[in-house]
Amino acid sequence: MSDQTTKLIHAFSALADLGEELADTRDFEEMVRTTLHVVLGALGVRRGAVAEYMQGDDTLRIVAAWGLGDDAPATLTFAAASAEMLSAPHPRALSLSESDQLELVQHQLGDTLVATLGELRLQLVVPLVVHKKFVGFILLGDKATDEEFTLYEREVVRTMARHIGVGIFNHRLLREVEQRAEESRGLYDNLRTIYRDTVRAFAAAIDCKDKYTQGHSERVGKYSEIIAREMGWSEEQVEGIAVAGYLHDIGKLVVERDIINAPYKIDAKQSSELNRHPAAGYEILAPIRHPYADIPLMAKYHHERIDGRGYPEGLTGDQIPPGAKIVSVADSFDAMTTDRTYKRRKVFTEVVEDFRKNAGKQFAPEVLAALCRAMLKEVNGETKERVIIKLLGKGYLEPEECRPLLVELIAELESGVSLAAAQ
Ligand SMILES: [Fe+2]
Repeated sequence: MSDQTTKLIHAFSALADLGEELADTRDFEEMVRTTLHVVLGALGVRRGAVAEYMQGDDTLRIVAAWGLGDDAPATLTFAAASAEMLSAPHPRALSLSESDQLELVQHQLGDTLVATLGELRLQLVVPLVVHKKFVGFILLGDKATDEEFTLYEREVVRTMARHIGVGIFNHRLLREVEQRAEESRGLYDNLRTIYRDTVRAFAAAIDCKDKYTQGHSERVGKYSEIIAREMGWSEEQVEGIAVAGYLHDIGKLVVERDIINAPYKIDAKQSSELNRHPAAGYEILAPIRHPYADIPLMAKYHHERIDGRGYPEGLTGDQIPPGAKIVSVADSFDAMTTDRTYKRRKVFTEVVEDFRKNAGKQFAPEVLAALCRAMLKEVNGETKERVIIKLLGKGYLEPEECRPLLVELIAELESGVSLAAAQ
């Protein structure tokens, strides 16, 4: 085999190694370092570096270096004008050791860089250019044999330079994409915060209209969230149901204030006016593009009952969306446990009786069971926060009294033998 053929085979196998390395983008710097080794090994060179041009701050960042010593700089200054000059397809390798080229090299690289490269004993400078854009250099020291680089070797380096250039170019693209994605995530988070703040502001506006139910919407949001989490809903669904809880009574904004605040039992006409609010809520919420599914439907059906005696449509059982069943329980639980216009709140034993009586009639048993389990966990100190206990106020849930009641009720609801279900 001739010497030339051996060299060709050697160069091609080095190129194949390079291709494999460049295809593997797990760790960019590791990839460049290995690639540099391949180049140095193929040419018998003992020192070298790969530098990436950092557009914007006019520097060359040394991505990988070999044999330059510990004092070698991590970055080199590089003028944008030089980058511009080198941005031509198929650039030539520049040699610092050939005196007849020195003027051209100084013109293209600038005196400072040429001086630094001289100090580092790097003498062959191969520009990396991709899509007519200068992306960096391969910088090589002299050969172990002290011979000059042959034309053939320069060709090999130029070919390798194209591979490495593509690697750097792709990595830069990837970095830009990641940066954009990061920015988009930031914007999205901002939007979510704005959305949530708006929802809370609306909840406050709804509750302002009803002077006897201060904070009702906020509490329904929190109870709904706790129930859904207890039922194993995903965090995103939990966020959605909290919003539905906050907004479930938004339709009350279009109901007359006097009817909402009547200090006496309202008549049938007023009652039917008040009962418009779930459908009105749907009308208000439906045109909005919510980041969560089914918010308008949860508002629309939060007064439906499992037995079909609710409103506005008299849906039964599974016809009612699961979210609406949760909001319904959260809504009623808050109504029972807060003082209203002309009735004081129920004591806990009465709440338990109401749940037992209405499971399977007004309320979905699995939703009641979830609320009871969440309460029991708080009472037993199994949760980090005690949201329900705080919302109900001090002393409402007496652990000794409510623990056995909850355990018993949960067992009934979960085994489906609650009084109502048996009827
Ligand atoms: Fe309501």
